[in-house]
Amino acid sequence: MSEQKLKIDKIQRGTVIDHIEAGYALTILNLTGLDETHSLMTIGVNVSSKKYGKKDIIKIENVFLDEVQMQQISIICPDVTISLIENYEVTEKKKVEMPKIIKKLIVCETKTCISNSKKEPIDTEFRVLEKNPLKVQCVYCDRIYRLHQIRFKSRRRKSGKKVKQIIQL
Ligand code: CTP
Ligand code: ZN
Repeated sequence: MSEQKLKIDKIQRGTVIDHIEAGYALTILNLTGLDETHSLMTIGVNVSSKKYGKKDIIKIENVFLDEVQMQQISIICPDVTISLIENYEVTEKKKVEMPKIIKKLIVCETKTCISNSKKEPIDTEFRVLEKNPLKVQCVYCDRIYRLHQIRFKSRRRKSGKKVKQIIQL
């Protein structure tokens, strides 16, 4: 019996974000702001995978991720593989790496937390207690969050202006 396979074209130069947990591709694009690039992008959602059963995959031409974007992806999907492509060849392949302390990317919900101080707010910092399933703790008020309780901060552009947005899974 012949196997039917979804074919997503190889890219010439750019980034492949692979082994994304099925259903999370659009969240990753939104959170990282990659959905605002004007580059050619192919997105596979619920693609069959031997290792994962189903997965999502994103391929973007001529775009390379920065450190913040890699961290954002690692928090949502710690198993993601990033491949850098030049001349149709994989030149580098790496797993995203979650930092021990997550700075600025997450909001603390505690009103009295010093990170929410109206007078002198300081950047949020969360200690990673467990990676998978994720458990993080605010270093200032010690409140603990699991992945689906986390509210992420991200910046977007709306008609040329930078605006803040909050994303929750
Ligand atoms: N890829 C691409 N364009 C290229 C080269 C590779 O889009 N010019 C993609 C492949 O489709 C794959 C990823 O980049 O999704 C990594 O490529 P490769 O290491 O060749 O594939 P696999 O061995 O299947 O990777 P893995 O074992 O990590 O799934
Ligand atoms: Zn706090």
